[in-house]
Amino acid sequence: DAAKLLGLVPALGSGATLAQAAVQDRPFPKNFQWGCATASYQIEGAVKEDGRGETIWDVFSHTPGRIKDGTNGDIACDSYHRFTDDRKCLQAVGANIYRLSFAWSRIFPSGKGKPNQKGVDHYKRVIDDLLEAGITPFVTLFHWDLPTGLKGAWHSRDTALAFADYAGFVAKEFSDRVHDYITVNEVRSFIDIGYGQGRHAPGEQLGARELNQARHHGLLAHGLGTQAIRATARKPVRIGMAENNYNPIPAIETPAFIEAARKAFRWMNARHLMPMLEGRYSDEYHALEGENAARTQPGDMEAIGSPLDFIGLNIYTGDYVAPDEGPQGYRLVKGSPSYPNMGLKFLRVAPAAAYWGPRLLTEIAKPRAIYVAENGTLAQDELVRNRQVDDAERIMYLHSYLGELQRATAEGYPVAGYMLWSLLDNFEWAEGFAARFGIFYTDFATQQRVPKLSAEWFRELIARNALV
Ligand code: NOJ
Repeated sequence: DAAKLLGLVPALGSGATLAQAAVQDRPFPKNFQWGCATASYQIEGAVKEDGRGETIWDVFSHTPGRIKDGTNGDIACDSYHRFTDDRKCLQAVGANIYRLSFAWSRIFPSGKGKPNQKGVDHYKRVIDDLLEAGITPFVTLFHWDLPTGLKGAWHSRDTALAFADYAGFVAKEFSDRVHDYITVNEVRSFIDIGYGQGRHAPGEQLGARELNQARHHGLLAHGLGTQAIRATARKPVRIGMAENNYNPIPAIETPAFIEAARKAFRWMNARHLMPMLEGRYSDEYHALEGENAARTQPGDMEAIGSPLDFIGLNIYTGDYVAPDEGPQGYRLVKGSPSYPNMGLKFLRVAPAAAYWGPRLLTEIAKPRAIYVAENGTLAQDELVRNRQVDDAERIMYLHSYLGELQRATAEGYPVAGYMLWSLLDNFEWAEGFAARFGIFYTDFATQQRVPKLSAEWFRELIARNALV
């Protein structure tokens, strides 16, 4: 059998080894979905075209000192005009899903009010092009490019209401062709980095009480958006979100350490993920926030806890933990300064997160389905002879995470698909264009997309539906 499978892969030639045959013992489930992820502001460019309204990232990236290399998303990968090139990249690796985001301000230029038909038409063209190629779109409705027309931004509850109107409108317009929706991307990031640390737009540093309130509005947008989509979709749809949750990893796989990781999952995710899973602010949340806890209105928590069809986890890193006698029952095992990362401090290498994330989530919340909605790494990729990028470290990174994810699926945790971040190098927020996350190299001078070796590796993996 293995020989037959190997015969399907001419690149391996006759030197195919037993080790290669053995990888067939590490298959992913039948019908597992494979694809890549991107986001509007990071790839589209065309920021003034066809009536698009201004967003907080336009303002932020044009503010001197905010972006490391002084760049902005005005042009980015020019995907607004080159979405068929992006689709060809997806086809080249054999992807059957594509996670992309709609720019809210292309559809409602000032965030609410009258929709902009040109924006709607644009996304219909993009979606139809994907569908014709047999690629299922997963549409993220908010990936951080908030229209500046929404005056209170995430300080204001009105922004959550405006999001619900926008989400409902999209569902009404698109449910004939888009079946899978991701409401908001990473509440933890757009609130805690944008309004806490101030490294992302709008660059504020709020105190705990205001920060919790802003985060509540982000969660509320997800909840009201979910309700609005269910109410207005004309066809059956699936709804989920994507969160940059914490993934505690038991440093040693014994029952005591695993129990510590389970506790840590609840504590570490108390502000972001747990409210969406449980429809309440947990005891852990109240213990952490005390009188700074968010103020809620009747119906808020029920909306935030709306039943979801899938949970999207953006898995980049994890945190080793051990049992502890203190009130939280766990402690972080941080390691030393030599702990490996991929060149950005936050990207500590922790492949086991791709196993423990889905497992702990399943044990705690029993989701209907889980998607890895993002996973990937940056590298200091270099284009050689205009056509070759030997990104060994990206292959190493992806291979080790996917090995752990395969283990999760083999043990029956309900992971239904995987979206690699990212399809192509793009505008990496405050890092600018220097942090390349793609499996396709973007030559920003020519806008050519060049497959890196990791793209070839990903194609092999998808073709076999097994770890390679
Ligand atoms: C998470 C975000 O959703 C995405 O926009 C970002 O580029 C990646 N992480 C990498 O940092």
